[in-house]
Amino acid sequence: MSNLLRDEIAGLKVAQLARDFGTPTYVYDAACITRRVAELSRFDVLRFAQKANSNLAILDLLRRHGVLLDSVSAGEVQRALLAGYPASGAPPPIVYTADVFDHESLELVATRGIAVNCGSQDMIEQYGARVPGGEITLRLNPGFGYGHSRKTNTGGEHSKHGIWHSELNQALARARRHGLRVTGLHIHIGSGADEGHLARVAAALERFALQIGPELQMISAGGGLPTPYREGDPVFDTDAYFAGLAAVRKGLAARFGHALSLETEPGRYLVAESGVLLSEVRAVKRSGQNTFVLLDAGFNTLARPAMYGSYHPMSLCPMTPGPRPEHEVVVGGPLCESGDIFTQQEGGFVAPRLLPEARVGDLLLIECAGAYGFTMSSNYNSRPLPAEVLIAEGRARCVRQRQSLDDMLRLEQVQV
Ligand code: LLP
Repeated sequence: MSNLLRDEIAGLKVAQLARDFGTPTYVYDAACITRRVAELSRFDVLRFAQKANSNLAILDLLRRHGVLLDSVSAGEVQRALLAGYPASGAPPPIVYTADVFDHESLELVATRGIAVNCGSQDMIEQYGARVPGGEITLRLNPGFGYGHSRKTNTGGEHSKHGIWHSELNQALARARRHGLRVTGLHIHIGSGADEGHLARVAAALERFALQIGPELQMISAGGGLPTPYREGDPVFDTDAYFAGLAAVRKGLAARFGHALSLETEPGRYLVAESGVLLSEVRAVKRSGQNTFVLLDAGFNTLARPAMYGSYHPMSLCPMTPGPRPEHEVVVGGPLCESGDIFTQQEGGFVAPRLLPEARVGDLLLIECAGAYGFTMSSNYNSRPLPAEVLIAEGRARCVRQRQSLDDMLRLEQVQV
């Protein structure tokens, strides 16, 4: 069988999943997530960046496996609380990391005692005024960054993220004025980074930790750990990554005379490979040399190809028998927009893909879609948000129902 044909997800039949839950639907494999968690268990704290996948059932699964959470909005903090995370503790179960506080998030972290990681001088100022004498960590922009796309590079002077490294002393002085203790240093250089750039984070943490001094109790190397999307992509060496950071922590502990906690904060690494976007082929048409396979999922369902030119593996689950010779096709969605194409490169160039012949009614699986899939979906073209299903121990469970028309329109009104 071609490796582009697939009829199972985590041991369950794709056709049955589509019958039970409809399409488009995100399907996650819990075992895949827990395997990734285990690979990073040597870190003192494994903190999941829930922007990658904030479904409550996924957060609950991670909580039960000892994973703590990063939250970037009041909504994400509320999700963490609803998934059973306590508001505070040591190490903090939930950290609010951002470059701004909106009024709601400042009030929420202040009243619930949520730990904050400040990415701007204004955040320090506002938190200091609201919670004088408290404790913060600092997110620093070390002056370099790297991501799978320019849009996901969070370091260097073109990035809005973090406190610029040469302003560190100013940030420390500002914190001191409010009686805030700076107990942690955090550097996240980008999403979809590579081993070389991530290795540079260790050296940056060391340098800036020494500048902060022994008040520091924790260093976090952020996230950005890459996952393989294409066959042949390198598999990330978690041991080498840990070893580089652990050496820095050891050196700092010796200098400061006390132990430091070492955190990693991946989003993608823990969930990307666990997820499949299950969709149905609804039309197959030709335009000149191109064959278009059009699905019931579009960039409203999975935005990454349209937004970054991201590559996702695909496979077909035929619903009728017979040979399916492979040929090159362009895969797109139902949206009224030319950019609604899953097989494209950055810049919007259409990139045909070799796939088994697809017919209307077949199921198409877009793989490695567990990170930044559902969380970036939208109601564009008034299409409802997809369902989400979690498979654990051989059982598939709907963990988010498909949005209904009523759900979608509930907040609108014709007359005031
Ligand atoms: N920590 C912080 C402070 C972050 O800003 C991010 C990602 C992470 C951790 C997790 O990064 P990860 O380990 O997932 O690479 N929508 C884009 C990714 C944007 C990520 C933004 N921040 C995508 O689909 O590729």
